[in-house]
Amino acid sequence: MVMADTRGAARRRQLVVGNWKMNGSRAANAELLAALRAAGPWVAEVAVCAPSVYLADVALSLQGDSIAWGAQDCSPFDAGAYTGDVSAAMLAEFGCRYVLAGHSERRAMHAESDQLVADKAKAALAHRLTPIVCVGETLAEREAGQTEGVVKRQLSAVIHTLGHCISQVVVAYEPVWAIGTGKTASPEQAQAVHAVLRSQLMAASEHAGDMKILYGGSVKPDNAAILFAQPDIDGGLIGGASLKAADFAAICRAAH
Ligand code: 13P
Repeated sequence: MVMADTRGAARRRQLVVGNWKMNGSRAANAELLAALRAAGPWVAEVAVCAPSVYLADVALSLQGDSIAWGAQDCSPFDAGAYTGDVSAAMLAEFGCRYVLAGHSERRAMHAESDQLVADKAKAALAHRLTPIVCVGETLAEREAGQTEGVVKRQLSAVIHTLGHCISQVVVAYEPVWAIGTGKTASPEQAQAVHAVLRSQLMAASEHAGDMKILYGGSVKPDNAAILFAQPDIDGGLIGGASLKAADFAAICRAAH
């Protein structure tokens, strides 16, 4: 068993990120953001990751607010013949703060490899965006006892590609079997994997104690506090519940 490193826990400000996935409309987004603005600010840092077509709207709606915003993906390239893609430079021009890299839905549905995810994280950092690198095992991998091997392999590609800049990324542990299923990892299961990730980061960077590792997968208002109380869990990456203002606000309140 990997011992958790708790030295940095007290000084890490937690982060709660809403991943809207491919949901929303201009009207629904405006309503959701207005409600969130009214509910905040929170002790924790808060951000929303919207579909790219809405990002300019979101930036406008959040002007002057402490809620940050991010994209759900970016190209590993700066510009060129990459139809359909959006570059980190373009996102940065709008004031984007975060970009998800390697969400399991993209790994599975767009065949994103560990190296491509690492290259996307590198492109994001080059434009001063903070990549939120997602890792996580499938149910079959967990049942085969491969959880640790899978998440370490996914993270090691990013560590190898970014070198000492690894300390500038946020990591999100999202067990695939917990995403959108209502089956949350227990706080103990999640903490155990977070401790593995923390120690892998410790071996790569002296600043790993300051890095945020988020948990994602069926986080709801009623389970957020216990998850966020784990020593190596520094906030959450929230899917379904981030579309409901009251639920997302309650989850943000549960973080510190
Ligand atoms: P749910 O919160 O809907 O399980 O989604 C988690 C997720 O994939 C966030 O990126």
